[in-house]
Amino acid sequence: MLIAGSETTVSTMCAFILNLHHHPHVYKKLLSTGVDETYFTAVIKETLRYTHPFPNFLPRIVSTPVNLASGLVIPVGTEVSMNSYCVLRDTGVFGEDAGVFRPERWLEEKEKVARMDAFNNIWGFGPMVCLGKPVAEMELAIAMKEVCLRPAFGMARRMCR
Ligand code: HEM
Repeated sequence: MLIAGSETTVSTMCAFILNLHHHPHVYKKLLSTGVDETYFTAVIKETLRYTHPFPNFLPRIVSTPVNLASGLVIPVGTEVSMNSYCVLRDTGVFGEDAGVFRPERWLEEKEKVARMDAFNNIWGFGPMVCLGKPVAEMELAIAMKEVCLRPAFGMARRMCR
């Protein structure tokens, strides 16, 4: 619980700050909207997608045989997993610019966003989905809004340019 709940959230906070330093136009836009809820949420979602704190495998044990289109059958008891990093950078889902940090993608056409949400495994899926999601979202919202609005953060960003 300690590792699941602290390392992930702290890494995401560091990534949020780093992404704003590397993409000053996003930081500028955030400030120009007065850290508006809609754009802020898109920046958080893009941070979790682009710099996911859990970019490794999410393993599962097959409980009923799975027939693949190729004819291959995955037997019961086999461990299968998906690589979060690859899923979250899939150009077929997130667009040709999946390798780019662009929060605006989360504010585009409804169908496109619904498809991205369906593949968005930042919190995992199913019965083992992250238990701390509401806590993490609350922590990120409170802490990162505070960071954005601090004049010292703007100064530090300018010094790093
Ligand atoms: C940005 C922050 C976080 C991210 C991205 C994250 C992501 C994840 C992911 C991907 C999993 C694996 C889910 C799966 O196998 O399908 C997981 C599991 C878990 N997370 Fe988080 N997590 C975050 C924060 C937290 C926090 C703050 C807590 C606790 C307060 C927490 C508690 C847990 C627990 C207990 C599990 C294991 C659930 C189970 O196996 O039943 N997480 N998390």
